[in-house]
Amino acid sequence: MQNIIETHDRVKNFDWKLSYVDKPNRYPTKYKIPARTKDPFRHLIRDYCSMEQEKDDRQYGAMSDVMARAGLPGKASQRWTEILKLVLPVTGFGEYAAIKSTGQLIDAVENAELRQGYMAQMIDEVRHNNQIAHLTRYLARHAPDPEGFAQGFALRSKNIQCRTGRAALQGFFNADPVEGALNLQVVTETAFTNPLFVAMTEIAAANGDQATPTVFLSIQSDEARHMANGYSTLAAICSEPDNLPHLQRDFDRAFWRQHNFLDPLLAAVYDYFQEERTSSYLEKWREWVEEDWAGAYIRKLEPFGLQVPRWFEDARERLPWVGHSAAMAVFAAWPLQFWRHDPLTERDFDWFEKKYPGWYGHYGKFWEDYRRMSDPASGMVPMQMFEHLPTLCRVCHMPGVFPRPDISTARVRLIDGRKHAFCSAACEHIFREEPHRYLGSPTLFEEFDGMDLADFIEQNGFLRADGKTLIAQPHLDDHRRWTLDDIRALKIEIRDPLRDLPAEGLA
Ligand code: BEZ
Ligand code: FE
Ligand code: FE
Repeated sequence: MQNIIETHDRVKNFDWKLSYVDKPNRYPTKYKIPARTKDPFRHLIRDYCSMEQEKDDRQYGAMSDVMARAGLPGKASQRWTEILKLVLPVTGFGEYAAIKSTGQLIDAVENAELRQGYMAQMIDEVRHNNQIAHLTRYLARHAPDPEGFAQGFALRSKNIQCRTGRAALQGFFNADPVEGALNLQVVTETAFTNPLFVAMTEIAAANGDQATPTVFLSIQSDEARHMANGYSTLAAICSEPDNLPHLQRDFDRAFWRQHNFLDPLLAAVYDYFQEERTSSYLEKWREWVEEDWAGAYIRKLEPFGLQVPRWFEDARERLPWVGHSAAMAVFAAWPLQFWRHDPLTERDFDWFEKKYPGWYGHYGKFWEDYRRMSDPASGMVPMQMFEHLPTLCRVCHMPGVFPRPDISTARVRLIDGRKHAFCSAACEHIFREEPHRYLGSPTLFEEFDGMDLADFIEQNGFLRADGKTLIAQPHLDDHRRWTLDDIRALKIEIRDPLRDLPAEGLA
């Protein structure tokens, strides 16, 4: 029998250059990539496919058989399952973006070893997309309140949080394909899939949800190999000195863009939607992103010319607050969402103060007011407590509340006769490097400027099947649900704050 390594090498020698037609340069890259490097996957595609098929069979089998029959989704904490209505459509977009990214890499990178790894990864990303769609459908069939699961994929283009996800995750494919690999493999998969997928599994299991870990443990077992693709891609790039100046710039931008979306969102999702509490997002971040990724993985590459990203220290300093500010923005804007929000209890308050000392002083009042306003009889929604809607960043579309509303780094600038909001110095810097990349997508408040909130909800499909009750609710109580009439009575206009706010500083 032939040695697997020899077979492996022989198969790759079948890679050839086309002599009869010029290969179209569909996804040009500015990076120089050596023609031969190491194969990160060490699998033949045929073996890889049989292994992955077996994994899929086990996961789909468990879900359709024993879990559904045992009625497990009904036993999960509702506070937790509600936020999967947001997490699954956003993650599904990430999988789709990862398919596009790896497809571009297969086409752009002339290196048989790397291409072999990208090909296996592309197969995985297609599988992940299907797995997430399947979990969504499973929950739409079995969860106690299916509304929101059924509509999430359609509603994501009209939802403020999903649009921030789109802005960040399309970084996997909307530029140079190697810049896409830095966003997808080197930053998101290597730094953030542990906080994203492993944390999700841990919290889901602690909160009685068995379906989500079944899917995401399977997904995460592939991410380890996608990280290997990132490492081999980086090693190939670092071996060419001409690549180093643009590598650092693309890497800095990739880290900021992924951090700036993923950290606030994940911290809000995990800290504010767990009922049976595990560790805090900040604790997870310090272990996985600060120590493992920046402290070990990236530092080891310093001798090859790659530095820890330029805005890493800013991110580290912001981390204790960003999740709370994001959660406040998500809950305050609850009528714009498509899931239900469980108000915090005294037990939650104690946990937050213990994990994030000083929390109550900055956020406690908001949560006490929020609880009061969750009843439609109060005649008020928390959005009305603020003078205006938050600005939305031209680059990342995040609200201008970070790191904390009282020390926000948001700013409004007049550039070439048009006002732009930025959430931070980093996003402003990134915009000024290449403004054309960000000018084409209006923020949600620009797109729906001047519209009555009730019309927005009705016309964009945020209502339940009865045509009058909102999918989103500020609580989990079935007897006090908000209807379109309750919202209409408030007469709230979606008004783009850029219309009224002055631009500061020089263009
Ligand atoms: C991934 O499959 O690698 C991925 C999916 C969603 C978000 C981030 C990464
Ligand atoms: Fe994936
Ligand atoms: Fe992946």
